[in-house]
Amino acid sequence: MLRHKYREELNCNELMLLPYYVASMNIEHAFWDATGDYEAFEGICLVDTFETAEKTQRAFDVFNGANTARVQQQRKAPIKVIVANPPYNAGQIQENDNNKNRKYEEIDRRVRVTYAADSQATLVRKLSDPYVKAIRFAADRIGDAGVVCYVNNDSFVAEKSFDGMRKHLGKDRDSIRYNEFLSLAGIPQETFDYRLGNRSALEWVIDQYRVTRDEHGKITSDPNRDDDEQYIVRLVGQVITVSLETRRIVAGLPPFTI
Ligand SMILES: C[S@@+](CC[C@H](N)C(=O)[O-])C[C@H]1O[C@@H](n2cnc3c(N)ncnc32)[C@H](O)[C@@H]1O
Repeated sequence: MLRHKYREELNCNELMLLPYYVASMNIEHAFWDATGDYEAFEGICLVDTFETAEKTQRAFDVFNGANTARVQQQRKAPIKVIVANPPYNAGQIQENDNNKNRKYEEIDRRVRVTYAADSQATLVRKLSDPYVKAIRFAADRIGDAGVVCYVNNDSFVAEKSFDGMRKHLGKDRDSIRYNEFLSLAGIPQETFDYRLGNRSALEWVIDQYRVTRDEHGKITSDPNRDDDEQYIVRLVGQVITVSLETRRIVAGLPPFTI
């Protein structure tokens, strides 16, 4: 299984040569750690990930023909899980790499017709940040369902210019992965409209009921109950019901008059 994933299904992209080699060595080392065998990793591409979203085929001939073939193969592959630590450099300030804001016809268009089009803000310049492109790219790339796991700048959580993006992200998520065996799917989007401060009640509960470990890894706080294993799943259901009912009641209230 692992060998099959490694050979056939795992992809990795990097734009710069040195990190490309570091990533390649890290992946090969992880495989060696897990299996005891060295095997060259052939799923890595030296490529600009955002360019792989372009509709018209570009010449992905960076490096050599083998690299181009890998990129073309990746473009055709169904991808359902995306894990990354994407770049961010709002306002052209380089934060953590040498990747200045570039123009990408397709991703820029997708950001424009979704996150920018649905924003009430007058200034949406911040949406040109590569981390926004990375989120747009991943949401489009996984299609109808999948998992996106990013180490991310969090300005999109509360800043005004990201209101359109928040609307779309709200629509893009509808399930909670409780543990490796259980996911709760089909959560109605209106659930996320019932907010406590800058978060929905459901997000607040999810945050409170995580298993956490202190920074030295010695003390673990585990809200799971041995005496009632379904407690948290039931709680999530109750919070969803309260959120939806509250929205319904508030929407039905007559206008306030003094
Ligand atoms: C924040 S660093 C993360 C580095 C490393 N993966 C980690 O997690 O520590 C972002 C990495 O993405 C690469 N990168 C930036 N833009 C990219 C793009 N459009 N396509 C592929 N890689 C890109 C950079 O070269 C850099 O190595």
